[in-house]
Amino acid sequence: ALPRDLEGVHVVISAGGTREPLDPVRHLGNRSSGKQGYALARVAAQRGARVTLVTAHTQALAEPAGVDIRPVSTAAQLGEAVQDAARTADVIVMAAAVADFRPADTADYKIKKSDDNPDPDIKLVRNPDILAGLVRQRLPGQVIVGFAAETGDADGSVLDHATAKLKRKGCDLLVVNAVGEGKAFEMEENTGWLLSAEGLRERIPLGAKALLAATVWDAVTGLLHRPGKG
Ligand code: C5P
Repeated sequence: ALPRDLEGVHVVISAGGTREPLDPVRHLGNRSSGKQGYALARVAAQRGARVTLVTAHTQALAEPAGVDIRPVSTAAQLGEAVQDAARTADVIVMAAAVADFRPADTADYKIKKSDDNPDPDIKLVRNPDILAGLVRQRLPGQVIVGFAAETGDADGSVLDHATAKLKRKGCDLLVVNAVGEGKAFEMEENTGWLLSAEGLRERIPLGAKALLAATVWDAVTGLLHRPGKG
């Protein structure tokens, strides 16, 4: 049986991928399946937490039992729903793949093919970083967890990029997934590292997404039960 170590703790989890509309029938989306966020919600509920799951678009997934589910579509809607739930949250986990950009304009009617403008341009504008906003408005003792899908490159390894991102975003924990080569997205299993603001670096072995979820909740309870927190 799982420990009931999240009893009395309100956790807010975002999951899935946002969609940014171009017109009534088209959107910019991403490949997030929602599986990792749903696994986090399911395991948290099993460990006794009160769970709010703000879910953008996912593959057809079973709803975790005993979880308050709030469906959203765009990054703006996800931000509003998470910020609303965050007012009573002890823990916030941003597992959603939130679009960094949205079309500057959404057409009221389907964009038509036209000989006058055969190759239309789409202008994109930046979406606000929801995670960074949550950190700025953090309540006392609130634990905030981010996710990062990273590829290594000439300027540094996956872990270098992730360590910089943890500092930049100001969250307590960052789950790092190496992506590319068919890793992480849409898969049943996940692997990566868990980095903490205090410098902890834990390798998460390849396993079911519920295993990664358990590793995250173990680390979160360590932060919650510290004197002066929670
Ligand atoms: O900067 P990057 O997109 O890699 O950061 C990923 C983390 O930030 C995830 O936890 C994601 O949910 C969150 N995020 C956000 N708002 C955005 C983009 C990403 O909260 N606009």
